[in-house]
Amino acid sequence: MLPLRLSKARRFCFAIFLALFGLSIPQIALAQSSTPSPLLPASPNASLIAALFWAVFFMAVVVFLAVEGLLIYSAIRFRRRSDDEMPTQVYGNTRMEIVWTSGSALIAAAVFLLSVIVIFENQPPVADEVALAASNVCFTTDVGGEQVAAFLGTSTLDVEIVGHQWWWEMNYPAYGANTATDMYVPVGSVVKLQMTSIDVVHSWWIPQLAGKEDVYPGATTYTWFQVQEAGTYEGHCAELCGASHAYMPMRVIAVSPEEFELWAQKQVSDAPEPGDGTLAAQGKELFSSRGCVGCHAISGVNTLARVGPNLTNIAGRVQIAGLMPYSEDNMRRWLQDPVAVKPGALMPNLQLSSEEVEALTAYLHTLE
Ligand code: CUA
Repeated sequence: MLPLRLSKARRFCFAIFLALFGLSIPQIALAQSSTPSPLLPASPNASLIAALFWAVFFMAVVVFLAVEGLLIYSAIRFRRRSDDEMPTQVYGNTRMEIVWTSGSALIAAAVFLLSVIVIFENQPPVADEVALAASNVCFTTDVGGEQVAAFLGTSTLDVEIVGHQWWWEMNYPAYGANTATDMYVPVGSVVKLQMTSIDVVHSWWIPQLAGKEDVYPGATTYTWFQVQEAGTYEGHCAELCGASHAYMPMRVIAVSPEEFELWAQKQVSDAPEPGDGTLAAQGKELFSSRGCVGCHAISGVNTLARVGPNLTNIAGRVQIAGLMPYSEDNMRRWLQDPVAVKPGALMPNLQLSSEEVEALTAYLHTLE
């Protein structure tokens, strides 16, 4: 006699399958409510990616319901009803096999086609043929994808991004400004990113603004976004890049064009001079004498150091070292022993005395 009832193992698999499907629903709802979700897009290219997700998700739901529906229906409709009865044995059905094989192929082709359309539509703008030749971006065209072409009349902002272990450097060539981690941009402008890395492979990813784009040493990659609403958009390095990969966030802070101009001008203006005889003035002195200037730039003090983050607006940043909120207490903690706070950090423990830590903290706190 053939075992035609649903076996225990099959019933178990079926229950697991249903449970997983049920679990995915609250997860998607959760993704909708938390800020850095790619399902809450804030840039046209991210919107297209979110639309692709929903299209594929919808197809998957239809397939799931059809397959599971037929499975449940067949299990009930064609079950063995008594011990003496043998249900009809079916050993193949050419028509049905053609339908489900070609149906699956069509669904896969549709997903492929939609994905390729989104990839082409979201192509980053690349300045010229030389940049194109130097880039290793697939499918890149010199004017970008359809979406960027549509924005050619709008204002644009070029920003050069450099990945470091473990922080992000941002340069604004049109302003001569250099900053780290917190990237200010004007609302409405198409922001064109030209990216590279100084050490290992990192990955630029602000889920609400665009898809991931890796950055490589010795190569240039491109991406873009256009923020439509003022606000802070959080992101994180998306490529395992060493001991402190977990402490390599980036954020885009979108402000009005007027606020952005003020911010950019501030970055290239000399930092405020601390008053004579103050603790901050001692801190400024130490910034040079203790060697901080070798790695960190402050506008008006030294502008060329690029080994560590530019500190011109350090007191106005969200975090210190990408892992703790900016505060004077946390700055003291950081200065006392950077590597103890951030594993593998390049900033050495300078064996600063507590007086030196106080003075440096006071000086850095004037740099908003
Ligand atoms: Cu840089 Cu992970």
